[in-house]
Amino acid sequence: MDTSEAIHPDRVGPMIIQEAWGTIGKALALDHMNGVYVCRGERASLAFVFLGEDLFRMKLFMGREPDLSTTIAVLPRESRPLEAEIEETERVWKLSAGHLVLEIEKQSCAVSVFDLEERLIARQNNISWNPRGAIHSVYDMPGDSHFYGLGEKASFLDKRGERYTMWNTDVYAPHMPEIEALYESIPLLVHLHGQCSYGIFLDNPGRTDFDMRSHGIAYTIGCSTGDYDIYFVYGPELKSVVRGYTELTGRIALPPKWALGYHQSRYSYMDQNEVLHLARTFREKEIPCDVIYLDIHYMDEYRVFTFDPVRFPDPEAMMAELKQLGIRIVPIVDPGVKKDPKYSVYREGVEQGHFSRKLEGDIFFGDVWPGTSAFADFTNDTASEWWGNLHKYYTDLGIPGIWNDMNEPAVFNASKTMDLDVMHGNNGNPKTHEELHNLYGLLMSKATYEGLKRNMDGQRPFVLTRAGYSGIQRYAAVWTGDNRSFWEHMALAMPMVLNMGLSGLAFAGPDIGGFAHHASAELLVRWTQMGVLFPYCRNHSSIGTLRQEPWSFGPEIEGILREYIGLRYRWMPHLYNLFHEASETGLPPMRPLLLEYQNDPHVTNLCDQFLVGSDVLAAPIYRPDTEHRAVYLPEGDWFDYWTGEKLAGGRHILAHAPLSVMPLYVKAGAVIAEGEPKLYADDRTDETLTLRVYGASAEEGFKASYSLYEDDGSSFDYASGVSSLIEFELRGEAGGLELSYRYERRGYAANRNLLRFALVCTAFKPSSVEGLGEITAEDAEHGREGWYVDAQTGGLMLQVQDTSQGAVFKLCG
Ligand code: GLC
Repeated sequence: MDTSEAIHPDRVGPMIIQEAWGTIGKALALDHMNGVYVCRGERASLAFVFLGEDLFRMKLFMGREPDLSTTIAVLPRESRPLEAEIEETERVWKLSAGHLVLEIEKQSCAVSVFDLEERLIARQNNISWNPRGAIHSVYDMPGDSHFYGLGEKASFLDKRGERYTMWNTDVYAPHMPEIEALYESIPLLVHLHGQCSYGIFLDNPGRTDFDMRSHGIAYTIGCSTGDYDIYFVYGPELKSVVRGYTELTGRIALPPKWALGYHQSRYSYMDQNEVLHLARTFREKEIPCDVIYLDIHYMDEYRVFTFDPVRFPDPEAMMAELKQLGIRIVPIVDPGVKKDPKYSVYREGVEQGHFSRKLEGDIFFGDVWPGTSAFADFTNDTASEWWGNLHKYYTDLGIPGIWNDMNEPAVFNASKTMDLDVMHGNNGNPKTHEELHNLYGLLMSKATYEGLKRNMDGQRPFVLTRAGYSGIQRYAAVWTGDNRSFWEHMALAMPMVLNMGLSGLAFAGPDIGGFAHHASAELLVRWTQMGVLFPYCRNHSSIGTLRQEPWSFGPEIEGILREYIGLRYRWMPHLYNLFHEASETGLPPMRPLLLEYQNDPHVTNLCDQFLVGSDVLAAPIYRPDTEHRAVYLPEGDWFDYWTGEKLAGGRHILAHAPLSVMPLYVKAGAVIAEGEPKLYADDRTDETLTLRVYGASAEEGFKASYSLYEDDGSSFDYASGVSSLIEFELRGEAGGLELSYRYERRGYAANRNLLRFALVCTAFKPSSVEGLGEITAEDAEHGREGWYVDAQTGGLMLQVQDTSQGAVFKLCG
């Protein structure tokens, strides 16, 4: 029987005139002080700061002075803000700074942004708020609008027609088009219309929403608490938006090379023997693998910073054998600390006041894997430092990486998270959990990263996280949570991770093979073929599901998986190069075609194929029993990676892909740096580095170039100059080719002797090479310098000593 609650007013839905929404009203004055421009409105003001030529901040505030502090998402900036030129007309105030001109309309405080050619880039019509602190803004949405970014979201690449909420949430069936909030919240919306793009980053770690669905000619951005604090990042190129946004919120820390390897996980490898057996099997079967994960069963009744004494009686011995095998361990660490007065972490946390509390002083307890648990308050630096230091427990064992899960934080209750009235200490500026919710995962991973780093003697740590907020890329790689072994989820991983890449999360990937439900042999093959080209590459599956280690479906499947995982390792120098680029520019290793071909109308929503860097195109098969698919090749010439066939771009082709083939194409003129086959990233140092150049032509105007970054792949020495940059170039010249390499910088000397240039997919054969003799393939195997034509591939091979002076070779036609 219902009670009177059945007619509770909240159940009836929104009232017609529920609340009075306020607006800024007319603009009364424009003030300027210390690089801050304040437009004073009738009921609120807007502060503008021009942070760069293509970047400004706009914050709504009440009262006299804006609070221009930022969240941790935004990096401290060294440069002073730009001064704007001010012009006043009867209708507007015009602020010009860098490449942008802002017009603030006096009648309404609407803000229009123009480029220097007076083209309208964006227009914010209206900002309004209700008495409970929700704020809502309305922006123009022209008919040719496309939307990207927004971090980890389901559905297609282009978010037009979608609506999303930013509220870190542990949803067990998360990868559905209608799910608006997932584990990560990156409140960055990228808007492309015509040839122009810009990003809007709303720096508010409370609940925010982006609606590109409900209003026809407008999109809206809103928050339910906290500040309306916008950063406007101008393109017009999408690449500039990604660069600008990651300059603001940071780029990935250069990962250790081993973190780019293949990772194997399962919920859970149940004991020490199973882990060792797994590691030995990888090595016996010669399947490359760098990392094995320990899921929650490694712990003593799910107490973080412990090992179960029965299942893992001798972690030191286990670690010693794994080290011999070249396999690293990454254990899971969740934020929930078991309430148990006999457990030192819990006791210390209580005694030293590190746990999150209610205003009234009670510790917040929530149910997670260990049962009733307390949660560190990472908004206090003291608690974060304490938590970080606890990781010495792992680093002392030689564990270099940590997997942060459940850090939304997830709680097994109706709200799925911590009570909203938990009052975080926030280093002396207390705020409710409701206001800071989306920061929790970021702060936990930051504490973890910094704690590991303090204890790793100059080696680079690795952190994997499920939850995060803008800026998380500085501390952790992100995996996309609990997907399922559904073909649909495999397909959806592409747009999801592509948009994550456009949102600063360059190091991301899904559970390969799917987490829940049961993988089939075919699904595992197709997903692995795709997954080895994603930035983060881990096979993970849930308890009670069919096993999906690479050998689980027999030798034929195992053989295919070995080949594709091997490809990732062969391409490691290239991948590492792309990761270095991401750490310097923010541009992700895995890219939508859109990022490279912004003005090609065929690619605005193309997300069942993707680029690795700028020149390698992967078109995975993502449906069962399918051996053909359409592939779009953008302008230019392309080569089928497997057959070498030359294909003209600017059209769709039909690719044939039996189970062992994932359609893969390389652009003419592209170069890929390849290493030698390895079983793990630092298996041995490469004797030879191969630069594979596609489609060399002796015609005037042909040019292929490549910059290769190198360092030791494991320490922070690169930060003090211990790195190298080699520049390669191949140019068509007077019926021949000129090949050169030089060290732009050689702070790091790779322990290798030879450089090999493999000119593949080319008809060019030299009559002679100035300075190099003709040799046989066998000579080359013995490390001799010279050139030869590879009998198998028809490719032209040149092998030379790798010297710091560099060299130039003329290949005569
Ligand atoms: C969560 C994680 C999953 C993990 C499981 C047990 O569901 O998303 O990856 O295996 O918890 O720890």
